[in-house]
Amino acid sequence: MRIDIITIFADYFAPLDLSLIGRARESGLLDIRVHDLRSWTHDRHRTVDDTPYGGGPGMVMKPEPWGEALDTVVGGDPDTVTPRLVLPTPSGAPFTQERAERLSGEPWLVFACGRYEGIDARFVADARERMAVEELSVGDYVLAGGESATLVMVEAISRLLPGVLGNADSAAQDSFAPGAMEHLLEGPVYTKPPVWRGREVPPILLSGNHGAVDRWRRDEALRTTARNRPELLDEIPPDQLDQRDREV
Ligand code: ADE
Repeated sequence: MRIDIITIFADYFAPLDLSLIGRARESGLLDIRVHDLRSWTHDRHRTVDDTPYGGGPGMVMKPEPWGEALDTVVGGDPDTVTPRLVLPTPSGAPFTQERAERLSGEPWLVFACGRYEGIDARFVADARERMAVEELSVGDYVLAGGESATLVMVEAISRLLPGVLGNADSAAQDSFAPGAMEHLLEGPVYTKPPVWRGREVPPILLSGNHGAVDRWRRDEALRTTARNRPELLDEIPPDQLDQRDREV
């Protein structure tokens, strides 16, 4: 997969050299290119923002550098694939695991990291004429800009690409992953030693009884969900709940 990121803070993306994503880039599974928006400005101050029409607080990002940046990154060859443009914004649709999965199937994504009060709306309207555009929010709070939201989305998407996770099963068992546990949050996990500060690992996990372990994990997932996100329990189709689930 190819991912282009356009930003005024290219240094923000240094973490993409590390860990899982760093390795995926080195192995060629991921081609991430970070671009400085200011390289598409033409004035001495490399200006990317201006005051909003209609008044109001803050500054708005000018459409010209964004338009030129997108034209250059996407290229002019009509025969090549066009990317999907992602605009991180608190006004966007929720970025969920389901959306991460869908986006992980795309060959090419471009993230446009807005700052200040946002990007002039004509940039988005112009881009929509040439490519699919998604405005996405990573949560109901306001960040200082789209950079940290982009890091979140790139990480969530990249780890779903075939070959990126060491253990192919681990993504399948995540909270929110499709399947029997889809509407449940993962419960607690344990590793060695078997006793730490007087606290034992739940004996069932050492029993070797896989059926009992699965049942225990489901019970714990139900408890964790009831404690932290009770509204998710209402989304479970009734035929996916057995008698034991209802008793937990
Ligand atoms: N930019 C600022 N806040 C944001 C949010 N919550 N999600 C995505 N992009 C943002």
